[in-house]
Order: sequence, then C-alpha cells, then structure tokens
Amino acid sequence: MSDASVFDAVELIRRKRDGNSLSGEAIKWLIATYTDGGVSAEQMSAMAMAIFFQGLSREELAAWTKAMIATGQRMDFSTLSRPTVDKHSTGGVGDKITLALTPLVAACGAAVPQLSGRGLGHTGGTLDKLESIPGWRAELSNAEMLAQLNEVGAVVCAAGAGLAPADAKLYALRDVTATIESIPMIAASIMSKKIAEGTASLVLDVKTGSGAFMKTHDDSHVLAQTMVEIGSDAGVKTVALITGMDTPLGRSAGNAVEVTEALEVLAGGGPSDVVELTLALAAEMLAAAGIEADPGVALASGEAMDTWRAMIRAQGGDPTAPLPQPKFTEVVTAKADGYLTEMDAMAVGVAAWRLGAGRARQGDVVQASAGVTWTASLGDLVHKGQPLFALHTDTAERIERAEQALADAVKISPQPASPPPIVLERIS
Ligand code: URA
Repeated sequence: MSDASVFDAVELIRRKRDGNSLSGEAIKWLIATYTDGGVSAEQMSAMAMAIFFQGLSREELAAWTKAMIATGQRMDFSTLSRPTVDKHSTGGVGDKITLALTPLVAACGAAVPQLSGRGLGHTGGTLDKLESIPGWRAELSNAEMLAQLNEVGAVVCAAGAGLAPADAKLYALRDVTATIESIPMIAASIMSKKIAEGTASLVLDVKTGSGAFMKTHDDSHVLAQTMVEIGSDAGVKTVALITGMDTPLGRSAGNAVEVTEALEVLAGGGPSDVVELTLALAAEMLAAAGIEADPGVALASGEAMDTWRAMIRAQGGDPTAPLPQPKFTEVVTAKADGYLTEMDAMAVGVAAWRLGAGRARQGDVVQASAGVTWTASLGDLVHKGQPLFALHTDTAERIERAEQALADAVKISPQPASPPPIVLERIS
C-alpha cells in the first residue's frame, strides 16, 4: 500500500469536487484506506457525491476497479482444462436466463463459474430461485467450486464476502447517500466482482426499460459501454447485449415458477422470448470462449438438461423432486376483448414481490412457491373474462396488494402490435 502520508482524503475530495482527475496511486490509497477504516464514512460519502456529479474517466475507472479488486481475493481458474466464461445480467423481471444458460454453455464445452446473488426489491435473485429445489445449497467453498467446474463445467453459487469487499462497504454507503445512480460507480461495482471471480471472458446482459435498473436505452448504452471498457482494460474479454425489459421475460416471475419455466426451456420448449435470449447469450459466450458449437443442438439433444441435473445434484439438490406448491392461487382476468399490446415489467415484478417472492430488506425470508404466472404474451388476442395472471402465495393476505400492483399492468387494444425485439444492441 502507498505511504498514507502522501495522500489526504480532504484534498482528494476537493480535487474531484472541482472536476480534476485522481491519479491511480491516489485511488488505490483511497479505496484501501476506506476499506480498512482509515478514511471515514463522511469523507467517502462526500467523494461518492463528487463522483456522482463529476464522473470518473476511463483511466480513473480502471484504477478504481483494480483497487476494489485488490481489497479481496481473486479466484484463479487457470488450472481448468476448459475455457471459462460468465454472464452477468443487470436484473429484470422474470429473468431466469441463468438457470438454463449455465448448463447449456457448459454442455457445449465451457466452464461457467456463475457467482450470483439474492434478490432485493422487485427483481428476483438467481439463488432464491434455485433454493426452491429441495436440498440445493448455494454456499460452496472455493475448492468445491473448482471441483464442480472440472467435473460438471457449470456452477451457480453464492459470491463469497471475500470478493472485492470494498464494494460491499461502498455500496452500503451509496445506498444511504443517494449515490447509487452513478453509472461509473455502478459499472465499477459490478465489474470488480465479476473480474475478481476470475473468468477469462464475460457477456453482459444490460436490461433497459420499466422493469430494469436503467430505464432508458441511452443510460443502458453508457453503462454497457463503460463495463465493456473496464473489462477490456482488465484483460477480460467483455461483450454486452442491451435487451428489453419493458415487458417481463417469459411467462413467470417468482422462484419455483421460474425454475419450472427454465426446465421447459431445457426440455426443448418454453416461451419463445426466453429461448431466443438464452440462445443469443449462449452464442456470445461460446464465441467469447473460442468454442465452435451450436447451442441449439445442445438444447435439442438433451445434453443441456443432463448438465443441469448434474449441476443440481453436485450442490445437494434433487432434480427429480417436486417443486414447492403455493397454498393459495388467485386468478386475474382480462377486462376487455382485444390484443395484448403492453405488459408492464415493473408492475409484474412488484406483484411477485408483494406475494412473497422477493424481500424488502436484506436477510428477509422469501417464499419458494410465491410468484406470478401468465398465459398470454404480447401480440396475443385475449377475451374479456379470460384468465390473464395467476397469483401464487402461501399468505392469503398478500393477494390484495399484488392485485393492486397489477391493476394497470396490461393494455388491451383493438389493433394488434408486434412485440419489440429482445436484443436491442450489441457492444464489444
Ligand atoms: N448492482 C451492483 O452490483 N452494484 C451497483 O452499484 C448497482 C447494481
């Protein structure tokens, strides 16, 4: 670490506040000293606000990300015989893509170390979904993870606290100082964890729309471009797809209901948007890993399903066990005849959350069987009184508030409209 006397936190805050750039050494000192407690929360809050307004240059961001990674361990998969490739999604409603994608790409010959998180708010977490499978455990040691990558090629597990601990501390601070919504800090936060995870290449699914973290295409584009630059500067081959999130993905949002849908995809069926996005991301991941294989073939042949079963068993899960069923299911019907031209992702996400599929605070327990399923997709003709949504929960009192969330979720129009494309842009 640099000599603490060389830098002064107040002077660095002043420099950034006034629009000047920080040297790599200064950034390294700031992040390390903040993580150790030598720079106070008040000072780091002021720095976060200065960055919120002044931004970070590409050089500063490379140094910022490197400094965050250096506060923890960096995983090493160089002993694996297969090339490593990972996917990160910025989070959306009904985004169960990781579940089928991970075994699919592994079945094509890559090693996929997918470190995931639990959900907070209206977007679900991959670990919450997988934990609806009886016996499945999210926590693996590094040795277990490496062994599973060697034997199965696919792992989805909890990211340990040892990866970029500076990020956890800084994220908690940003959360209470209104500085989460800073694209450079979001990009560095996501990329520090992904780079520390040790993957050689990375495909980013940057969501845009009402149910996404980034509501506009322009913001999503800047975030994607920034993350691709950070990855490239750190020697990780990084590609981003910007994908639509005005409408929820597939026909389910929740925990067990999303596992069921992922199994349909692995069995060769499933909703067309989920299949399309899974295959698009798989093609990008395989290209990034330098593997020539057709993911559609691995899906159709059942190899991806075999890898799924092996992946679930390796983590103590029983892939043949029935998934938890809800105690209560309530149906919401269509209010008119016509074509379904809008289904708001945010409204569906909030409904699933209120039914118990998500948590309001870190540490809250989620219900495995809670969620929303629906039977019509954009463009479909529906009739008044026809069931549109089914609301699933173990707590009957939750249903009313979920119904309120869905009150204006759909638009039924006399004229049909074609659904927007899923993949909106590719950035490399
Ligand atoms: N997700 C992250 O991991 N970090 C952010 O800053 C925002 C979203």
